[in-house]
Amino acid sequence: MLELQNITKYYGARQALDHVSLTLENGIYGLLGPNGAGKSTLMNIIIGNLKPTSGTVLWNGENAREMGAAYRSLLGYAPQQQGLYDTFTGIRFLSYMAALKGIPKKEQRGEIRRVLDYVNLTEKACRPIGTWSGGMKQRILVAQAILGDPHLVVLDEPTAGLDPKERVRIRENIRSISGDKIILVSTHVVSDIESIAKEIILLREGKIVGHDTVSGLCKKHGDVKNLEQVCLQVFGEEEENDGTHTV
Ligand SMILES: Nc1ncnc2c1ncn2[C@@H]1O[C@H](COP(=O)(O)OP(=O)(O)O)[C@@H](O)[C@H]1O
Ligand SMILES: [Mg+2]
Repeated sequence: MLELQNITKYYGARQALDHVSLTLENGIYGLLGPNGAGKSTLMNIIIGNLKPTSGTVLWNGENAREMGAAYRSLLGYAPQQQGLYDTFTGIRFLSYMAALKGIPKKEQRGEIRRVLDYVNLTEKACRPIGTWSGGMKQRILVAQAILGDPHLVVLDEPTAGLDPKERVRIRENIRSISGDKIILVSTHVVSDIESIAKEIILLREGKIVGHDTVSGLCKKHGDVKNLEQVCLQVFGEEEENDGTHTV
């Protein structure tokens, strides 16, 4: 169980998070909010990349910062920016990530095979990542996040910049990870998570302004039909040029 207690973050004078408290148990959680809402900041604090100005992250009741390597070993993270190595082949990138994660050498090959198969990249694995499509690059980011079968998987906008077909592939990959894990996925595209998330967390200007199941949120917002309408009420209207509704 992951617990965030009163997480506040300032970058200089600018407040990015304002007393965020959350409890996450196994299942898929969608973190939904417009650009600048604080999604990446919150994720970076969860994974220990950033220190909150105040507040605590607890893993099963223990302070995550004090757990050190024990906490890191149960984490998988895909950053928003594709920090990929274009000259690396898929296999080499995953080998590198597996080594960084401290996966024992004799388990690496099998693990790499498993995650490549999982995101349907086995056939491309020997090609340089620079020759891949945006969707394939995002899928290998998801693949490295699940190397070593971590209990907590944090995916920061895994569908950013993808066309609708590629988005669906990523969504289905995420749907099939779940089970006995906590999966937190951020997005500003409602349709990415509406059908797969157990619960939705709405983040606006650094504050949680809603946290419930999709149907719970719909009820609370005047019995609206879908999450998109909830978002219209909470965030107002904003449309991306490709016609996909975003918040
Ligand atoms: N390194 C940083 N320095 C200063 N301000 C930052 C930094 N990173 C993010 N911010 C600001 O914090 C707020 C939240 O950003 P971010 O967490 O990236 O939001 P999101 O991921 O939801 O788009 C924004 O106003 C952003 O400009
Ligand atoms: Mg972000």
